[in-house]
Amino acid sequence: MIKGKKILIVGAGGFIGGHLTNRLLNDGNTIVAADIKPKEYWFQDFDNVENHYSMDMKDINNCRLVTKKMDFVFNMACNMGGMGFIENNKAECMQSVLINTNLLIACKENEIKKYFFSSSACAYNKTKQQEVFIEGLKEDDAYPADPEDGYGWEKLFSERMCRHFMEDYGIPVRVARYHNIYGPYGTYDGGREKAPAALCRKVIMANKNSDDKIEVWGDGMQTRTFLYIDDCIEGTLRLFESDYSDPINIGSDEQVSINQMIEIIEAVTKTKKLKRIYQLDKPKGVRGRSSNNDLVKKVLNWSFKIKLNEGLKKTYDWIKEEMNKQGTNLSRFTKS
Ligand code: GDD
Repeated sequence: MIKGKKILIVGAGGFIGGHLTNRLLNDGNTIVAADIKPKEYWFQDFDNVENHYSMDMKDINNCRLVTKKMDFVFNMACNMGGMGFIENNKAECMQSVLINTNLLIACKENEIKKYFFSSSACAYNKTKQQEVFIEGLKEDDAYPADPEDGYGWEKLFSERMCRHFMEDYGIPVRVARYHNIYGPYGTYDGGREKAPAALCRKVIMANKNSDDKIEVWGDGMQTRTFLYIDDCIEGTLRLFESDYSDPINIGSDEQVSINQMIEIIEAVTKTKKLKRIYQLDKPKGVRGRSSNNDLVKKVLNWSFKIKLNEGLKKTYDWIKEEMNKQGTNLSRFTKS
């Protein structure tokens, strides 16, 4: 367990960053938290943390300021979202390269002891994800490079930048390739939401309006592995404490199609079967993506625990509660 350390979390106002802040704080660390979002858009905000709201880490001066005297730095910051966002905002996504680059430079100058970079399954070669049910992606499948355009290229390039900072300057780095993380305190509307939150929201709305149908992007046969946030945090911290410095999958073994995920949501919320309206012109991303977890099981002795039915129920309940608070307005978290 990491305890008694001074830790900077960049992107702390975001979904994974907020949960990580909570955990590291509870474990007895001193946390400095930074995010480009203004205070009102942070998903989680803790009093006993040094919070830097509206701080743009693309500016190296900000990176230099907040990395001073830190033991560890977690870079959880990037301009991202689900397929609806990354497919239509490639230039925005690529600019996150400045966050990682400037942070690494500042970490080198301030002699940080260890650095974490949150990469993504979008770094994997697209041609290996063209079938509905694929073998899980192994870490080597990122090369030859042909990642998701925009966002995936940024992640792959930044992974390599981490590697070279370690090789050339001796900064220990840890890099996780996250496979569609979901759970409470994340985006569920406004355009950046991923499939689990979007589909929970749509089922909630159907129930609320006594509607008998929901809209689904694509034909619903596309597959993914989704990982619940608590498992993600546990895997992340185990990786951070390990001596493994190459990029590694943090994902589940539970590969499902979008249709299967909707069935799970209906089952755990006792919703009667809704008619699916398939929208074939919406962003679909790769046809099939799943995480091969052989390496992570071997080097970290870690595997996911929370199954989709449990995780989706918790996510659904949280989103429902938030929507009840908000009425018909956009989520208070969504800066549209
Ligand atoms: N977002 C969303 N909203 N997706 C939907 C919906 C909907 O209402 N209905 C069906 N889908 C389908 C999408 O068309 C896509 O085929 C699949 O659900 C998964 O979509 P997302 O969850 O948005 O994204 P992803 O899995 O393709 O990629 C996400 O995960 C990566 C890590 O695994 C993105 O968030 C990436 O940014 C991230 O790196």
